[in-house]
Amino acid sequence: MTDFAGLVAVVSGGGSGIGLAAAQLLAERGARVACLDLDPSEVPEPLVGIRADVTDEASVDAAVAGVVERFGGIDIVVNNAGIGAQGTVETNPIDEWQRVFDVNVLGMVRLSRAALPHLRRSNAAAIVNTCSIAATAGLPQRALYSASKGAVQSLTLAMAADHVADGVRVNCVNPGTADTPWVGRLLDSAADPAAERAALEARQPMGRLVSAAEVAAAIAYLASPLSASTTGTALAVDGGMQGLRLRPRT
Ligand SMILES: NC(=O)c1ccc[n+]([C@@H]2O[C@H](COP(=O)([O-])OP(=O)(O)OC[C@H]3O[C@@H](n4cnc5c(N)ncnc54)[C@H](O)[C@@H]3O)[C@@H](O)[C@H]2O)c1
Repeated sequence: MTDFAGLVAVVSGGGSGIGLAAAQLLAERGARVACLDLDPSEVPEPLVGIRADVTDEASVDAAVAGVVERFGGIDIVVNNAGIGAQGTVETNPIDEWQRVFDVNVLGMVRLSRAALPHLRRSNAAAIVNTCSIAATAGLPQRALYSASKGAVQSLTLAMAADHVADGVRVNCVNPGTADTPWVGRLLDSAADPAAERAALEARQPMGRLVSAAEVAAAIAYLASPLSASTTGTALAVDGGMQGLRLRPRT
């Protein structure tokens, strides 16, 4: 497919996992893609890696200006940079709440705000936010992370309403547990990584983790000019975790 030919995409958190997979897919389908990341060292050509911190407005503004100077504009923003947190409302310190919201929610605000003047000039403008199953299902030990992703889903809807008249579509993807370096780190930190992986897999109706490529395919679907009538949606890529209620396996 070449549906992204002539378009420019910016992917935050594009140095790893879901962001990198999405950036590669958009590029394969014709886009010129810049990956904004704290660590862009693993970003392969033809993708362009740019060091940027979504918690730093000046850093985001400079990265966006650099992309526009290099490519002449921006058509697609994938707000994907995010960090995790484990705990309950009793255990996560307030400064961790502020830190996670700063990355997961305000990071999207900063990049969207910097890119919108350029998106308004595009005929194929789209923002795709990486949300999570944690926005819509109550998961244990994820109070902070879930609250941040609930904010992302609400932000997606509100932004879709604010910018529809400007021709800017805004949607989000809601992955289930995805097999990325992030989850690798989570498993490494568990007392029994094999048992933890088995528990995460068992939570998925399909019995396996979601792949980064599968989430990337959904991001590309929502970002594509072929989806020009789709805005204000949350697309689950969760192996059925949100919608299915199965009987226990016998
Ligand atoms: N892996 C999962 O199970 C899963 C499930 C649902 C949603 N998500 C979401 O998917 C997104 C990507 O996660 P992933 O699994 O690919 O993780 P990952 O750790 O592999 O990639 C995240 C990337 O974001 C970058 N990043 C972090 N903070 C940043 C900052 N302040 N500025 C710029 N870049 C920053 C990291 O350097 C990293 O390259 C996140 O928003 C996460 O919440 C992940």
